[in-house]
Amino acid sequence: MSTEVKKSYYQENPLLNYCINSSTPMHPVQQKLAKETMEMTQYRMMGAPEVVSLNALFIRNMGAKKVIDVGVFTGASSLAAALALPEDGKVLACDVSEEFTKRAEKYWEEAGVRNKVELVLAPATETLQQRIDSGEEGTYDFAFIDADKPNYTNYYELCLKLIRKNGMIAFDNTLWSGRVLDENDTSEGTMNIKSLNKLISQDSRVSAVLMNIGDGLTLVVKN
Ligand SMILES: C[S@@+](CC[C@H](N)C(=O)[O-])C[C@H]1O[C@@H](n2cnc3c(N)ncnc32)[C@H](O)[C@@H]1O
Repeated sequence: MSTEVKKSYYQENPLLNYCINSSTPMHPVQQKLAKETMEMTQYRMMGAPEVVSLNALFIRNMGAKKVIDVGVFTGASSLAAALALPEDGKVLACDVSEEFTKRAEKYWEEAGVRNKVELVLAPATETLQQRIDSGEEGTYDFAFIDADKPNYTNYYELCLKLIRKNGMIAFDNTLWSGRVLDENDTSEGTMNIKSLNKLISQDSRVSAVLMNIGDGLTLVVKN
């Protein structure tokens, strides 16, 4: 039984390489971001190209104007979203790290989309709650959740409020390197992901599909 789950940038799997090579090439700044991020020790945090490109495809196809990016790192997911948005579109980019997001800002600038990204440096639960309190409920089209795993369920509930009907929430890492199948793995990270997956699959407020792409991507549409 194969339980292989891998992001394509490890370049170990010829079939994943073929998928990337048979998809629309990334923007030159996206390629530069990926190359430079791969030189960092924390490179494994970078959103997989196939995941951020799929997000971008949905964003374009939905005619989205308002996107939430929870977990910016060096900016791969927010750059893909900003490039997919129209000129008056906006990405609310949430992170706590000035060090990582300084790099992200450089790429947004270079790709000419800095004006489309609002970066908020604060715990994302606070940022999202603040947007709800200021009356933005039901106004966002798409959200990508890719930050601290213990808060995934909180991000789910907050984004469900912020997203409009038929809007989409995408969760990264929902296969957790295949560890969701290991019944002996009771570590906090694995249990968090498993309980989120169970909650979403049984939630009548949404329709959801968990896909074996990257490290697992769950796509949720609000009913
Ligand atoms: C996996 S990385 C995000 C990758 C990014 N989506 C991409 O496409 O490359 C996770 C990010 O979440 C951020 N983070 C961790 N805890 C957070 C919190 N409580 N609120 C907001 N961001 C947080 C980290 O600083 C890190 O940059």
